[in-house]
Amino acid sequence: MKFFVDTAEIEAIRELAATGLLDGVTTNPSLIAKSGRDFKEVTAEICAIVDGPVSAEVVALDHATMMKEAEILRKIADNVCIKVPLTVDGLKTCKALSSEGTMVNVTLCFSANQALLAAKAGASFISPFVGRHDDNGFDGMDLIEDIRLIYDNYNFATEILVASVRHTMHVLQAAKIGADVMTAPPKVILDLFKHVLTDKGIEGFMADWAKTGQSIL
Ligand code: G3P
Repeated sequence: MKFFVDTAEIEAIRELAATGLLDGVTTNPSLIAKSGRDFKEVTAEICAIVDGPVSAEVVALDHATMMKEAEILRKIADNVCIKVPLTVDGLKTCKALSSEGTMVNVTLCFSANQALLAAKAGASFISPFVGRHDDNGFDGMDLIEDIRLIYDNYNFATEILVASVRHTMHVLQAAKIGADVMTAPPKVILDLFKHVLTDKGIEGFMADWAKTGQSIL
């Protein structure tokens, strides 16, 4: 499973990229606003840090303007992935861009039928929002299971990018279902490393090692 980080904070991206486990980055207008940075400038910086896809979202609601925005965004770097909302205009834009060989991430997906449409429109990634699904009394993981089944039925190449990930259990469940990618805030990715028994084990080994009086170096 690929790991993307869902943030526009440069330092957090650098820290995760240094682990060698980061495969891409997703941003959205809310994350850009939170960063306080210029959209195009911060996107260029992120693209220089990470080799994999960096999602940059259009903000127009009509197809013609989405295409104009995408034209500007995709010139920022080769690894920019244009993010469009799951609307009629968004999918028209997805179809046009993907036909030209541009990576497209279709966002704000809340149903398996929407995911089917995105795959037919040639999306590189579909982003079902599991956390927001859970928030509204549905099971976000049921949605991932349905999309996995549909995509496998028809051998769609569109990758399932589990988004709106709120905790490590979402990551585990998405991996068990066979999602292709998950995007999570930096804290959730760092939480994946943690286990109380790992910490306790290190503490015990360090205490016993000190008793030997030895040094490896
Ligand atoms: O990037 C989109 C998505 O991951 C947003 O997550 O936590 O705002 O629902 P959240």
